[in-house]
Amino acid sequence: MGNIVLTGASRGIGFEALRELAGQGHNIWACVRTIKEDWRQLVKQWEDQNGIWIRPVLLDLEDMESIKNAALQIMRGGIA
Ligand SMILES: NC(=O)c1ccc[n+]([C@@H]2O[C@H](COP(=O)([O-])OP(=O)(O)OC[C@H]3O[C@@H](n4cnc5c(N)ncnc54)[C@H](OP(=O)(O)O)[C@@H]3O)[C@@H](O)[C@H]2O)c1
Repeated sequence: MGNIVLTGASRGIGFEALRELAGQGHNIWACVRTIKEDWRQLVKQWEDQNGIWIRPVLLDLEDMESIKNAALQIMRGGIA
């Protein structure tokens, strides 16, 4: 299974893609602007169910510093 970087993972298509890719057994860096507690709980549940990791990465695509920081986090292995 692959390692995937997914943007917009908080809701909408990105969130559904996160659910689907987790179900397929991929490890995922899940990029979001803010981490909400209910989202974190679901992500933890999908990790446990599928034997994968999903690492939240803070990313705002309108902010160059945020993009650089997210890239660094991913290159270093993501944040737990
Ligand atoms: N829905 C459809 O049927 C459909 C069909 C074809 C194509 N699309 C395209 O697919 C994309 C996603 O659509 P969607 O329906 O899921 O809803 P959306 O409102 O376009 O996207 C929501 C996601 O984008 C994130 N986001 C917004 N601004 C961001 C920024 N500056 N930096 C990082 N993340 C940002 C949101 O994060 P927050 O939660 O932090 O706001 C959320 O996770 C869009 O480009 C849309 O045009 C959608």
